[in-house]
Order: sequence, then structure tokens, then C-alpha cells
Amino acid sequence: MKHVGSPAVLAALVFAITGADAPAPAPASRFTTPQAGAGSTLYAQNCAKCHGAALTGGSAPDLFGRAFTASSLSMGALNQAVTQSMPLDDPGSLTAAQYAAIIAYLLAANCYPAGATPFPADGNIPDRAEKVATQGGATSPCSLREVEKP
Ligand code: HEC
Repeated sequence: MKHVGSPAVLAALVFAITGADAPAPAPASRFTTPQAGAGSTLYAQNCAKCHGAALTGGSAPDLFGRAFTASSLSMGALNQAVTQSMPLDDPGSLTAAQYAAIIAYLLAANCYPAGATPFPADGNIPDRAEKVATQGGATSPCSLREVEKP
């Protein structure tokens, strides 16, 4: 069988072909639209009273925009914070699937694109070191329609 090469080698190849002026690659999709839709309801029920209905914060930090981006959470740390410490007044009170749906909603609101693969409920997060940030400099949370696949 032909040797295919490591992802790093492939990435270097793509870079060599496309050149330094190529636009940054689109962020990988990490959740499905139905999952984020379920998460939206769960967020309203379990998180909004402290983090704000529009994710703009309140008694708790923003989960959208500059403050959220500046918090410099990785995907793994976001998952850990939510599943282990939230809701702050009743940690661990939701199911793994419910937490995954809420994180899907947070990513959708921060303008990550929806795709075919749900956010994992088993803690096995792809690219867990990648920093979470509001995508594209959005100034208001994205709707689920906006992040759906074309
Ligand atoms: C009772 C109020 C309260 C509720 C309800 C609550 N949180 Fe929090 N949350 C906080 C506070 C206060 C902090 C900041 C201090 C801390 O991390 O303990 C925080 C921190 C966080 C952080 C880390 C933010 C950062 O920038 O580091 C995330 C993510 C988060 N909450 C998500 C959620 C989600 C998702 C829910 C719903 C499942 C939720 N929270 C429910 C009060 C709350």
C-alpha cells in the first residue's frame, strides 16, 4: 500500500500549493443543527439566568464575543468547565447528551458552522487544544439558520 504521510506533512503540502496569501481555512464543523437547536432550549432553561439570554453575561461571564474569545478556553477546557462545573448552582445535573447539545449551541451562537457530526458526549473532543473564539468577528450571536450547511 502506498504511504500516505502524516497530517503535518499533508498540511505543509497544502500550504506549499496554496501559498501564504491563501485565506485562513474555514473552522471545522463540530456539531449538527438539530443538536444545537436542542441545546438552545437547554441553555435557556439552565444557563441563561446567569450568562444572559443572549449570551452577553450577567452575574456570570459572556459566552459570546470579545470576552468569550479572550477567556482563551480550549475546546477541551470548555467541555470540562461546562460538564463538570455548570450550572454553577447545580453542577453535573444534566445528562452527557444535554451538555453536548448546550456546547453545540454555544459554538453555533459563536458562528461555528454546523455539519454532519454531533459534538461528542463522551468527552472525546477532536482538536481539544484548539482555542474557542467567536468566528469572523461577529458582533451578535449567529442564529442556527446562519450556521447551517448551505
Ligand atoms: C448560578 C449561575 C450560573 C449558572 C446557572 C451557569 N453558570 Fe456558567 N458560570 C457562572 C460563573 C459565576 C462563572 C465564572 C466563575 C467560574 O468559572 O466559576 C461561570 C463560568 C462559565 C464558563 C467559563 C467561562 C469563561 O470565560 O471561562 C462557561 C463555559 C460556563 N459558565 C457555561 C455555562 C453553561 C453552559 C451553563 C448551563 C448549563 C452555565 N454556565 C450555568 C455562573 C453560572
